[in-house]
Amino acid sequence: MQREIDGVMYEVPTHMAVIMDGNGRWAKKRMMPRMLGHRQGAKVLEQSCEDVWNLGVKYFTVYAFSTENWKRSQEEIAGIMDLLRTYLKDLAKKCNKNNMRMRFIGDRSVLDQDIQDKMREVEEESAQNDGLQFTVALNYGGRDELRRMTMKLAEQVKKGELDASEITEELISRNLDTCELPDPDLLVRTSGEERISNYLLWQLAYAEFYFTDVLWPDMNRKQFIEAIKYYSGRDRRYGGAK
Ligand code: FPP
Repeated sequence: MQREIDGVMYEVPTHMAVIMDGNGRWAKKRMMPRMLGHRQGAKVLEQSCEDVWNLGVKYFTVYAFSTENWKRSQEEIAGIMDLLRTYLKDLAKKCNKNNMRMRFIGDRSVLDQDIQDKMREVEEESAQNDGLQFTVALNYGGRDELRRMTMKLAEQVKKGELDASEITEELISRNLDTCELPDPDLLVRTSGEERISNYLLWQLAYAEFYFTDVLWPDMNRKQFIEAIKYYSGRDRRYGGAK
């Protein structure tokens, strides 16, 4: 969608996906424990929702905890889960105040029950909101999502409810965690790493990729405009020719 930002016209991505990387390094640079980096990251995440919405983004999907993040120390995992609990506490109220709809993707079945209950509650209470469509990936892995989708379809084939010949790309998309979201137009990864790290493997097929050295806790409106500027200058052909 074309949109004027600070007097300049840009093509703004409808769906922006983000890999929020660099919390640990942000804390280390300040000789602080890693957890303070995550805490600052969570604060910046809240502000980012407001920033990207005001810039014209409709769908915002962030990677908060991957299926691989369980390899971190028990202390860091417990810290992130506690941060998540705090974050979830009055999230429904905040969503409704800002007309924001909240969704979670990933395998939530292994998370603590109180966290799962709260996730469900926030999703239900914000389901009518048609402002920013905000999605948080928790215990998410692109390969794991494809595995779960494959199991679901295989079960249907086994029961005779689905014929293998009916498995189209569209049916696959409809059976992923992201079934209600359009594919991302732009992927942003912070902190200088240039990897996809098992994020939205299927959905990012035609996305533009923007990498920045800025650490996640230092992201702000100006940095998001830089990402949009980059996106706006791309020539998207989806495999076709001009
Ligand atoms: C990556 O930084 C960040 C994470 C794995 C956690 C992301 C969590 C947040 C941004 C806080 C928001 C959290 C919730 C629960 C909503 P890193 O630790 O990999 O940084 P490093 O690469 O510098 O070590």
